[in-house]
Amino acid sequence: MLEPDNIRKDFPVFREHPDLIYFDNAATTQKPQVVIDAITEFYTHFNANIHRGVYDIAAKATERYEAVRGKVANFIGAPSAKNIVYTSGTTASINLVAQSFLGAQLKAGDEVIISQMEHHANLIPWQMICKAKGATLKVMPIDREGAIDLGTLRVSLSKRTKLIALTHVSNTFGRINPIREVIKIAHQKNIPVLVDGAQSVAHFDIDVSDLDADFFVFSGHKLFGPTGIGILYAKEEHLNAMQPIVFGGDMIKNVSFEKSSFLSAPQCFEAGTTNIAGVIGLGAAIDYLSQYDKKEIKAYLKELREYALSRLQEIKGFSLVGSEEHSSAIISFVIDGVHPHDIATILGAHQIAIRAGNHCTQPLMDFLELPGTSRMSFSIYNLKSEVDRAIEIMQEIHDLMFGA
Ligand code: ALA
Repeated sequence: MLEPDNIRKDFPVFREHPDLIYFDNAATTQKPQVVIDAITEFYTHFNANIHRGVYDIAAKATERYEAVRGKVANFIGAPSAKNIVYTSGTTASINLVAQSFLGAQLKAGDEVIISQMEHHANLIPWQMICKAKGATLKVMPIDREGAIDLGTLRVSLSKRTKLIALTHVSNTFGRINPIREVIKIAHQKNIPVLVDGAQSVAHFDIDVSDLDADFFVFSGHKLFGPTGIGILYAKEEHLNAMQPIVFGGDMIKNVSFEKSSFLSAPQCFEAGTTNIAGVIGLGAAIDYLSQYDKKEIKAYLKELREYALSRLQEIKGFSLVGSEEHSSAIISFVIDGVHPHDIATILGAHQIAIRAGNHCTQPLMDFLELPGTSRMSFSIYNLKSEVDRAIEIMQEIHDLMFGA
């Protein structure tokens, strides 16, 4: 049974800031003590570079670093640790696929498909590679509740389509996409699909093998891990088709002044000294999260979202952006006559952290004809009493501006 009151005690930030109400979990999650300790333990007890030293602490650092690869594979249902590439985050993972996987095969006239709700990280890398190769970036339209139309997708696929990239959950309004269906439709035409799992991996049971996802990407910091570490999962056949794009130490077989040869995946995509402490911290975060049942996490966050939504609806002029249904632990909203940044600033002055703005989805905001939204995003340490406090302040803002 999930006990948010107890879970909070695992996160030192809430001891440091007892009044903090942290509703910005889609931006980054707070870190439990076990993650902080794992990073400190690495630097204190066995800091050394990996894959190079022959002394004890170097062997331990390498062993711990590589063990996390298996842990990640297990966490997302990947067939093997060899399918797991460490990157600096979701953004780096997507850029790697765009440049390395598509870079080698995209030709003039080819197409890449994304959706209208994509975060800039799952838009610009495709836009840039399409531009460089004379290919076209096509955009799957959505309706105002964020639903994509699978019929439209089906008819827009052709031999020219080289990849579909879609977020599992919209970072802006929490819409959950039907990725299983999208993958099925795409695979009927042998089109690979990249799933951006940045906003889903902490809340959903992910099984990339069962989903048959070609690529699945996420960041450690949104699942209680450190910043600067992310994952690219790719099917073996795709990893084998990808060429390294960053060259240097720790990814080579042989080097001479005339030519160099490279290790196989995943090592060939991890040139230089990588974020060893980040990997170890991510391992601790996965252990931490794995003690909870994802079904319970999902159910609790759904309950919290529904509660917050019902309370927000008490505020005059409140409109939800997105859908009441089919949504994850995010509420995006506007209040008539109040700028989203003013809501975030006033809440911030009361130690209530939310995000306001375009949420790195400018084209989505253009479609919705909004300058931005206010966004509350929840995690397993949030409480209904925190929602009540936020509503109280928002009511005060409203009454101050428009009268009670
Ligand atoms: N992508 C993160 C967010 O949605 C930063 O806030």
